[in-house]
Amino acid sequence: MVWKLVTYTELYTPIPPYKSTYAIGVAEDESGNKAIVRIDRKYFGRLRSGMLGDVIEEWTVFGTIKRFVPKEEVKVPRVALITGGARGIGSSIAIELAKAGFSIAIADLAYDKEAEKTLETVKSIGVEAVFVAIDVSNRESVEKGVSEVLSKLGRVDVLVNNAGITRDSYLQRMSAEDWEAVIRVNLTGAFHCSKVVSQYMIRTGGGVIVNVSSIVGLVGNVGQANYAASKSGLIGLTYTLAKELAPYGIRVVAIAPGFVKTRMALAVPKSILRDYLKRSPIPRLIEPEEVARLVRHIVENEALNGVVIPIDLGLTISSPRA
Ligand code: NAI
Repeated sequence: MVWKLVTYTELYTPIPPYKSTYAIGVAEDESGNKAIVRIDRKYFGRLRSGMLGDVIEEWTVFGTIKRFVPKEEVKVPRVALITGGARGIGSSIAIELAKAGFSIAIADLAYDKEAEKTLETVKSIGVEAVFVAIDVSNRESVEKGVSEVLSKLGRVDVLVNNAGITRDSYLQRMSAEDWEAVIRVNLTGAFHCSKVVSQYMIRTGGGVIVNVSSIVGLVGNVGQANYAASKSGLIGLTYTLAKELAPYGIRVVAIAPGFVKTRMALAVPKSILRDYLKRSPIPRLIEPEEVARLVRHIVENEALNGVVIPIDLGLTISSPRA
């Protein structure tokens, strides 16, 4: 017997005690019999009235319930949005997720030579890819950029909050502007992006948010009060969003890299870099591709949620201070 979905609720609220979201719908069979059905969130992304499927009875501790299971297996390519994706770690993440089959949205301040190179590399892997100009520190820019991604690629399944800056100096010399600029990009930027993107993820049945923190956010670093505070803040944001968004099928995980071979790390004074290498159990810089492979693992491993994963060659265990 084939059932047709007549209507369904757009309100996807968590239903305790399942800690999961469902839509409630009305389905009708060929003889006009109607049934109230529960529709699992994994179907949200392609749900519509008139969709054909099966109604199955499922036994739960509270008795039996009717569930609607769509027949059509419409494969929608999943989409990853990477902020600060033009170069460095963000570029490697874009390339790695493209290899995993994701369509890619590279979000960065401006479409420069590096953005063009990353975009071309991602496209050459054979997936759809777009560049969107987003300043993560500006809420309106995030809203505009995300709606551009949605209109071009249809959805967002993975958000990587990777955009970041440094404005290093000792506390006594640090200006309020430098403090605020770093917090605005590194922390408030992740807040804006998570807030805007998660509302779409909820509608399409879930997703993954990866926050790029730093070992500096775990153990601090001389001359980086603003940066360390922003990266510690990202960890608190990760823990909280992991709790808040889990019922909607959204996982939130942070990574905490040590020094990665990018423009940001290479701008660090040579003496500090040398000291860092001396203290590292494995004395080398981390490759951006190594960080990207960790992000891919987080995206693919559905058991990871609400944790901070260091990728630091053992630096955090080698000294009480980074
Ligand atoms: P990078 O400087 O090479 O790349 C950062 C990217 O973010 C650039 O493409 C830049 O244009 C973009 N960006 C900056 N402000 C932005 C804004 N307001 N809106 C949108 N995009 C913006 O740096 P890297 O090393 O690739 O860093 C990526 C992330 O990894 C950062 O969050 C950084 O804090 C973090 N990280 C880096 C480490 C390292 O040693 N390189 C270590 C630990 C964490």
